[in-house]
Amino acid sequence: MKKGLFITLEGMDGSGKTTQMQQLKHYLEHQGYTVCQTREPGGTPISEKIRSLILDPEHQEMHPWTEALLYAAARAQHVAEVIQPALQREEVVLCDRFLDSSLAYQGVGRDLGMEEVYKINEPGLMDRLPDITFWFNLTPEESFRRKSGRDPKDRLEQQNRQFYEKIYQSYRQLAEENPQRIITIDATKSIPWIQKMMRCTVDHYIKASYKGRL
Ligand code: TYD
Repeated sequence: MKKGLFITLEGMDGSGKTTQMQQLKHYLEHQGYTVCQTREPGGTPISEKIRSLILDPEHQEMHPWTEALLYAAARAQHVAEVIQPALQREEVVLCDRFLDSSLAYQGVGRDLGMEEVYKINEPGLMDRLPDITFWFNLTPEESFRRKSGRDPKDRLEQQNRQFYEKIYQSYRQLAEENPQRIITIDATKSIPWIQKMMRCTVDHYIKASYKGRL
């Protein structure tokens, strides 16, 4: 039987996944589980350094493959140093973004191809994909509206909007292709409604896959 429970959260910026992750963590701890809460890019000192390198706005000239390889490198370190050991200790790992972000942002957003991006990540995954991935389904328009409080057409250039539309569509595709793993969450619903749905999903998974207890 697999050890531990690996849960990831994915979606556009501003979709509310951080709040939900925090609440899910409290819920699981209340059930007696040890929860390892982490995020990508980051989660280890080396991966946090890679994060600053990638997200530095001065690095505009960064080539898409450099970016994809850096995300994969940060992830390999994160899996080896944090995720895999926590799962071995039979903990619940809650990770804000993981592989699907690379497939969507680099694979489709940067046109590198999902398969190709998967290939460079695969060696660092240590044979474990998330058990449950919550995808917060929020359209790019709604995401921008939430963040800026304004109509996206006022603020964003066309190119930026197209990029986020591609990412949105690629998450849709991933969810359609992996219905067993990826649970689509309607991110326009209320915070308590979403939390309830996530808790039910996790409880159900634990019951079905671990006979009630990890
Ligand atoms: P962050 O500030 O953590 O944003 P968010 O709150 O949306 O998670 O920034 C992470 C950014 O990195 C986000 O825009 C998505 C991007 N990203 C990738 O492009 N590829 C990846 O593999 C990961 C993990 C993140």
